Amino acid sequence: MMKIAFGKPAIPESGALVVGVLEGKTPGPTATELDDLTGGQLRRAMACARFKGEKGETLVVPAPHGVTLDRIVLVGWGAVDKVDAATMEAVGGAAVACLGGQGDETATLVVDDPEGMALDGATAAAHMALGARLRTYRFDKYRTKEKPEEKPALKTVTVLCEAAAEAEAAFAPLDAVADGVRLTRDLVSEPANVVYPESFVETVRDLEDLGVSVDVLDEAKMRKLGMGALLGVAQGSARPPRLLVLEYRGAEDKKAPPLALVGKGVTFDTGGISIKPAANMEDMKWDMGGAGVVAGTLKALAGRKAKANVVGLCGLVENMPSGTAQRPGDVVTSASGQTIEVINTDAEGRLVLADVLWYAQDRFKPSHIVDLATLTGAIIISLGSEHAGLFANDDTLAEALAEAGQAVGEKVWRMPLGDAYDKMIRSDIADMKNVGNREAGSITAAQFLQRFITDKTPWAHLDIAGVTWSKKDAATVPKGGTGFGVRLLDRLVVDLMESDAASARDNDGHDDGDNEKDKKTKGDKDKKKKKK
Ligand code: BES
Ligand code: MN
Ligand code: ZN
Repeated sequence: MMKIAFGKPAIPESGALVVGVLEGKTPGPTATELDDLTGGQLRRAMACARFKGEKGETLVVPAPHGVTLDRIVLVGWGAVDKVDAATMEAVGGAAVACLGGQGDETATLVVDDPEGMALDGATAAAHMALGARLRTYRFDKYRTKEKPEEKPALKTVTVLCEAAAEAEAAFAPLDAVADGVRLTRDLVSEPANVVYPESFVETVRDLEDLGVSVDVLDEAKMRKLGMGALLGVAQGSARPPRLLVLEYRGAEDKKAPPLALVGKGVTFDTGGISIKPAANMEDMKWDMGGAGVVAGTLKALAGRKAKANVVGLCGLVENMPSGTAQRPGDVVTSASGQTIEVINTDAEGRLVLADVLWYAQDRFKPSHIVDLATLTGAIIISLGSEHAGLFANDDTLAEALAEAGQAVGEKVWRMPLGDAYDKMIRSDIADMKNVGNREAGSITAAQFLQRFITDKTPWAHLDIAGVTWSKKDAATVPKGGTGFGVRLLDRLVVDLMESDAASARDNDGHDDGDNEKDKKTKGDKDKKKKKK
């Protein structure tokens, strides 16, 4: 893994030096200084290239004279008044991506303080380092024949800024978040012969070292709890299912109701008896992306010692066709007591989540619940890979997620819910069926989930089918598993549970359920449980 260090501004003796240029080919302070040292070489290079200084553009100036550096890389920062944390992440990402093609082992990235920049230098430097870390992710453990010159050369990146100590301190929590993103990307990238329910659990067990408690429910336990919906999906596979429960209590009041994160963890989705076509079926190794995000988020939160109580629940199953697989038309009874006619065995994610959502509310009485799932192909038709689909029964939670998404560049777009959609999953022989017709496929899936949410729990569902895997490199996200969701949820925790506004709500007794009055309402609603 690449090492990241911070230091005070100084022009290094060797290696590559990356300096910022603002919009309109305007060199920043360090670029100006270097331009003088090199006898105007940087301005000349810009004059004869397309490089304009727009955000994320790069221009390599090799063997500059007047200095001992191997190369100077100009990186565009864009408009100075628009420079924010996301800009610096994109700049850091663009810089290391450019350096990756040059073969440098060490690189120095300069964060100077151009006039008119609102962002403070330490924050800017920390986010530049985060961008560099996120972009250099590579899942290469199965490449055994790569020649040394094909491997990434960059070993150390040093970020220089005036407030180096502050930058290093500001980077520590971001580094923990990047660790969480990396875990998610690893889990999502692993093939299904390596990551299956039991091995998923073993992979995340070391979160215990960070203070996360790990509890695992096996088949027998789930059967006792009546989780017929989840178990129905699992019954065609030789791999037994698991329900993984990760619990992190970092709030001052360890008993305060937690935020519950629930993830779809279908370690491979063949479709079951309603089998999928062969083309691109290999993509279904990442149908555990929701569970991967839950695990990564818990790692991030525990790693940065977040002051919040958060539990993560992952429904881990493999959806296979076999002699023991469930059939279209089967009726299963969920842990909530509600019965489901399984029309299509490929609509399995919602069956898994039905039982995990129910269990999450029953066991933890959460203040909020957010589920993440690569749930429907239809959300890819709706939103492509630009936004995750957001569904919610609570406007405050929906807005908090939308804002968090904007802030970290993991955007969500709210979709509607409503009775008319709910009617589409009525069944002739059971309480509901697991699919509607082709219309509004992502919404009917969300309606199905909502049937397992008690009225008083603020709930949001993120359909991440379009954003979990990327086919092209982006500023801070190399192609492959994106880790989309970890930064979003980390930010949600900051805004909802760790900010001043969150503690003000605590004292008011509103919104987050962290008080006696709310606890009582939650107790009442539990009596609604329809256990037979
Ligand atoms: N895991 C898929 C959804 C999916 C599709 C995720 C493509 C990522 C990329 C899900 O289990 C599924 O098969 N959904 C069906 C639902 C249908 C049977 C109602 C779908 O979207 O086709
Ligand atoms: Mn499916
Ligand atoms: Zn699926």
